[in-house]
Amino acid sequence: MATEFVQSIDLTGKTVFVAGGTSGINLGIAEDFARAGARVAVMSRRQEKVDAAVERLTELGAEAMGGSADVRDYAATEAVLRDAHDRFGDFDVMVSGAAGNFPAAALGLSANGFKSVVDIDLLGTFNVLRASYPFLRKPGASVINISAPQSVLPTVTQAHVCAAKAGVDMLTKVLALEWGPAGVRVNGVIPGPIDGTEGMARLAPTEEDRALVTNSVPLRRYGTPRDVANVCRFLASPLADYVSGVVLATDGGWALGGASATMGVIGQPLLDAVGSEA
Ligand code: NAP
Ligand code: COA
Repeated sequence: MATEFVQSIDLTGKTVFVAGGTSGINLGIAEDFARAGARVAVMSRRQEKVDAAVERLTELGAEAMGGSADVRDYAATEAVLRDAHDRFGDFDVMVSGAAGNFPAAALGLSANGFKSVVDIDLLGTFNVLRASYPFLRKPGASVINISAPQSVLPTVTQAHVCAAKAGVDMLTKVLALEWGPAGVRVNGVIPGPIDGTEGMARLAPTEEDRALVTNSVPLRRYGTPRDVANVCRFLASPLADYVSGVVLATDGGWALGGASATMGVIGQPLLDAVGSEA
């Protein structure tokens, strides 16, 4: 089980920016990049979360900084990226992981509810990547988008997330085509159900839900933020120098079908509540 930190990929002297890096999986990624010697910058909406993350990364021995911005706001996002670039120089690694999720049947979703998730996940990923491009090391940068099983598996109560994350995967592939000639690699990672996160607290809130999820993962366990961070460190490292345009599931096999099947069971009450007529 990938729970121990393995210092086999040294990232000393590298600069890493993690958008949405102040809690959960993304903070776990930021922490392991810090442990591996990188300078780390993080960004999210709430300043208090940014401050706490920077304190945590500093405790781990990293040079760290952060700023607050909503990824839906291009100008604010660009300003935080520029600050980080002014202080740390060109980004070797850009992780884009800000996202929003709640379970809702499509008939229980307003146009604004659908839009809010598409705006955070998809438009937000575009904003982060587009605004960071001038600040990426060229050649050499590694861009990593945090996707989800919903990008490949139609999933009840997740129309908004499925649409948004499928778009994120396509953005990963198109930008791999467009930015490859400049020496910028663009890849994605699909985390499975990761323990202790806001995402899974929303999707599988009860012990019964958790048991269903565990049994639907071929490897029969929840993942850890480190499982995802390990793959991000690999994608950021010279070991992946010839890897671009892939979306790599790091999910114990959950995206083979279990994710969709489980949410079909857990999500049924939300479907029943709205019926088939709006
Ligand atoms: P989380 O702890 O809620 O992390 C989301 C992060 O994004 C937070 O730092 C949040 O901070 C920030 N954020 C949210 N909206 C933002 C916005 N509009 N602008 C800027 N920052 C924003 O969630 P998580 O469960 O760890 O999920 C992290 C990533 O993994 C997401 O991309 C998610 O889709 C993906 N994922 C998670 C799972 C899972 O098991 N949890 C599975 C598959 C994929 P603020 O609140 O301060 O903005
Ligand atoms: N079911 C149906 N609609 C919902 C909902 C739910 N559970 N939760 C929110 N919405 C709707 C709201 O009603 C609103 O639509 P309306 O204006 O038509 O009423 C719309 O979504 C936007 O909600 P709001 O709270 O104004 O959005 P926000 O931009 O402040 O927050 C969210 C975005 C809703 C995604 C919020 O949950 C969030 O900030 N999430 C980040 C953390 C997270 O989701 N972590 C897990 C990552 S995988």
